[in-house]
Amino acid sequence: MRLQAPRGTFDVLPGDARRRLDLQRNAADVLGRAGYGPFETPIFEDTELFARGVGEATDIVQKEMFTFEDKAGRSLTLRPEGTAGVCRAYAEHGMHKLAQPVKLWYWGPFFRHEAPQAGRFRQFTQVGAEALGSDDPSLDAELILLLAELIELAGAGPARLRVSSLGTPETRAAYLEELTTYLRAREGELSEDVRERLDQNPLRAFDADHPGTRAVMEAAPRLLDRLDPADADHFAAVRDLLDRAGVQYDVDSTLVRGLDYYTRTVFEFESQRLGAQAALGGGGRYDRLVEELGGPATPGVGWAAGIERILLAAEDARDARVADVFVAIAKPESGGSAFLMTQRLRQEGLRVVMEQAGRGMKGQLKQANRVGARATVIVGDGIDVKDMDSGDQRAADSAEAAVQMVRETVG
Ligand code: HAM
Repeated sequence: MRLQAPRGTFDVLPGDARRRLDLQRNAADVLGRAGYGPFETPIFEDTELFARGVGEATDIVQKEMFTFEDKAGRSLTLRPEGTAGVCRAYAEHGMHKLAQPVKLWYWGPFFRHEAPQAGRFRQFTQVGAEALGSDDPSLDAELILLLAELIELAGAGPARLRVSSLGTPETRAAYLEELTTYLRAREGELSEDVRERLDQNPLRAFDADHPGTRAVMEAAPRLLDRLDPADADHFAAVRDLLDRAGVQYDVDSTLVRGLDYYTRTVFEFESQRLGAQAALGGGGRYDRLVEELGGPATPGVGWAAGIERILLAAEDARDARVADVFVAIAKPESGGSAFLMTQRLRQEGLRVVMEQAGRGMKGQLKQANRVGARATVIVGDGIDVKDMDSGDQRAADSAEAAVQMVRETVG
């Protein structure tokens, strides 16, 4: 029997792998320019980190973790998200002693045991950015702008941006009590799922598809109307910066994120091109998380985005170009010269492939088109350079003259 990749996982084939690498380079560039440095944490962590960090009542912890025991009987979990690990590392390495804020970005595999469907996998890839050690609203706004830029650069726009504020745990606790009382009084109209978890997480009711629940939620009290003045001011400052930067967004008080660590700002980018799994990326502030994990009181804010979803949304913008230049071999004895020409052109920083499958000239020109080459260098008794867009073919006096002609053609 032929073996297959496990359900909800996938192989990254060369075309997609290239697009992912481009995205990773964009992330390194865009985030690097804003002062975010690359960072890595382990792919598995103690299960307790996620139970405490992400929250016992969340779907992630209750249903979606890949948890296993090591040989000593310790419970480990494949990371379902990156923020808890970053905060653990911040506390573990005493990063509060560094100049604040500490700004980090990461890229790597994450694991959630969800029902696979388009855009939803059991192993997926996130790019994420976190800023720890400051509650300055400019960080919230900066991070939102950075994610918007990455989505735009990937060709995955337009994306709808929703923002909200969840306040502090204290306001939230008082609000949750108010909401629970409100929901309890209307229990009969709610879905079974919402009813069962009413005490654990009544906010999830805002997320429900169930028509009865939705009707009840229309008139439910909203947390945004209950924020204390400091949180309301913080949210106003974030919005002001977004407005001044010309960012389009909707304030959506029903925005619920699937993780329990958030305080104050939360946000999510949704693609207008994807179906059910439209969330390209999201995040928010988590001003209590480092402390909850045993570190010093440290505010933090960040986001993560799903690479597979960004690439799905950018599908139309697919660019099949593998090479700028194709080096063709006009007669078998010219193989060595063609090889050297290929190396020479690569030194120019160009992407260059040469004929390596024994094709005839017609087949080679077809291959040049297939890889997206804009110029083909034909090495035989002499050297010719063919402009693949116009079809013009000219002879070069020397190898160096050919290099110059290629540069002019490729631009
Ligand atoms: P999250 O919203 O759970 O946030 O995940 C971020 C993004 O990861 C989602 O918007 C989605 O694009 C992608 N994603 C999540 N699950 C899957 C899946 N099963 N298949 C494919 N893509 C998926 C977090 O993980 C937080 N750590 C974000 C954050 C960072 N908040 C503060 N800092």
